[in-house]
Amino acid sequence: MPTLTPTTLHTQRLVLRWMDQSDAPALFALFSDPAVTRYWSTPAWTDIAQSRAFIDTTLAEYEAGTGLRFAILLAETGEMIGSIKLYDFYESNRRCDIGYALLQAQWGKGLVGEALSAVIEHAFNTLNMNRIEADIDPRNEASAKVLERMAFVREGYMRERWIVNGEVCDTAFYGLLRRDWEAR
Ligand SMILES: CC(C)(COP(=O)(O)OP(=O)(O)OC[C@H]1O[C@@H](n2cnc3c(N)ncnc32)[C@H](O)[C@@H]1OP(=O)(O)O)[C@@H](O)C(=O)NCCC(=O)NCCS
Repeated sequence: MPTLTPTTLHTQRLVLRWMDQSDAPALFALFSDPAVTRYWSTPAWTDIAQSRAFIDTTLAEYEAGTGLRFAILLAETGEMIGSIKLYDFYESNRRCDIGYALLQAQWGKGLVGEALSAVIEHAFNTLNMNRIEADIDPRNEASAKVLERMAFVREGYMRERWIVNGEVCDTAFYGLLRRDWEAR
């Protein structure tokens, strides 16, 4: 596991920073929206206690080096509009997974691409990863577009990998190598 230290990343329109319990209401607004969780691996939240417990887990993961979740904030207003995470670090293989979500009101502005660029740079250059993986629902066209714009390659398809609220879902599996990123 990498040793994680509090980090803030800046892009043109965004600030990405570590989370704390003050983010619970904004995180609840994000993950209680069924449109946001439509292709997520868990159902939409219904109670803010879920948000607090999730942030407790996030804090424990910083400490253990098992997960690096950033809050995505608009640089101009400081409003928290989303979340992006590196997780499942395999240090010996220098690889990890990535996941992300944005408030519906902010979709379609290229913001996740901007956040991904900064987090991918951090993963390759600061955390010394060689490969980043993403597991998405094949019906999630917006997410596939974002990944492909970042030079991720669709490498596989796994059938009936998730069952969320009784709905059986497949996985489209994406990978990004350091050399793909450098050559993009
Ligand atoms: C997937 C997601 C992260 C994309 O982020 P984004 O910053 O909106 O991405 P972009 O602005 O680059 O738009 C990507 C595509 O989203 C789609 N999109 C844009 N605005 C949209 C809207 N209002 N409603 C639905 N889809 C929209 C378009 O297909 C767009 O492609 P285009 O630019 O070729 O038209 C975002 O839609 C989201 O948070 N979804 C919910 C959580 C989720 O599914 N996360 C990924 C799980 S693996």
